[in-house]
Amino acid sequence: MAGLATTLCGVSLRNPIVAAAGTAGYGPEIAEVVPASTFGAIVTKSITPESRDGNPPWRVVDLPAGMFNAIGLANVGLDRFMAGILPELGTLDTVVIGSIAGHTLEDYVAVAAGFGDPAAEAIRLIEVNVSCPNTATGRLFGDDPGLLADVVAAVVERTGGKPVLVKLSPGSAGVPDLAEIAVRSGAAGVTLANTMPAMAIDPETRRSRIGRAAGGLSGPAVHPIAVRLVHETRRRFEDAGLAASIVGLGGVLSWRDAAEFTLVGADAIGIGTGLFVDPRLPRRILRGLEGWVRRQRVAGLTDLQGGFQA
Ligand SMILES: Cc1cc2nc3c(=O)[nH]c(=O)nc-3n(C[C@H](O)[C@H](O)[C@H](O)COP(=O)(O)O)c2cc1C
Repeated sequence: MAGLATTLCGVSLRNPIVAAAGTAGYGPEIAEVVPASTFGAIVTKSITPESRDGNPPWRVVDLPAGMFNAIGLANVGLDRFMAGILPELGTLDTVVIGSIAGHTLEDYVAVAAGFGDPAAEAIRLIEVNVSCPNTATGRLFGDDPGLLADVVAAVVERTGGKPVLVKLSPGSAGVPDLAEIAVRSGAAGVTLANTMPAMAIDPETRRSRIGRAAGGLSGPAVHPIAVRLVHETRRRFEDAGLAASIVGLGGVLSWRDAAEFTLVGADAIGIGTGLFVDPRLPRRILRGLEGWVRRQRVAGLTDLQGGFQA
């Protein structure tokens, strides 16, 4: 696709579309449905040091406002990921971003050390998930400026020089402040954002519609929220003289949604819920972006980055 190449945290991507963490399996699963080369990058499911079963059912429910999930970081754990999944990731014709989660600083550091190991050369970038609404401690490190600074600095030290993205929650107060702290602590960029903490109740049973009282909302309802977060964070980075990357993520279902993220200054555009709606969506969005670049009479998408006229 002409004119769509971009750079994320210093890594060249053939196009800006990033398969969001946890919505493309570990990576190889989505490649069974859509060629990996369709994506600029694919983010793995978040990996913790030990395996996790996740929350009881239901874990994913459709709501009129979007998709509601409480997966709870179900994953095979670092050792099985490294031995069983990493080799397959190395065969994918795209940039692989490894996602880290944990309950303690030591958890984050352990997975960062695994992803930073020379054996993990398939992983080019690292995303730190400090914003999961579906576990008791999922947002602990993302909401507290001091803990955030500590975890980012500790992770950055262990990744063998691989750039680090920090994924924040749209439910946190002062997202631009948190993003600035992440970058000043060594992150190369931020992903905005994770799912929105939310609730949905069945009036007949009086119980939550998923296996936890609260869960995470994704899809169209969160898109305008994420656009605002990217806008405010890009402005903050500019004011602070920080050259950091931003992945705009939340509710992208059309090229217009993706273009909004570009206009407010995103370097790349994540798609999560959209992949469940239609796995062919990335290709359609890329075609739409190509047409937009042509109509705007610029050489490439990056010429439109930050082009929002307030
Ligand atoms: C089923 C499901 C699983 C997810 N798993 C993860 C995960 O493991 N790690 C993570 O950082 N985000 C996870 N997310 C959040 C997505 O990566 C993304 O931030 C969110 O869904 C918003 O984007 P969207 O509206 O395009 O889906 C998950 C989302 C869904 C719907």
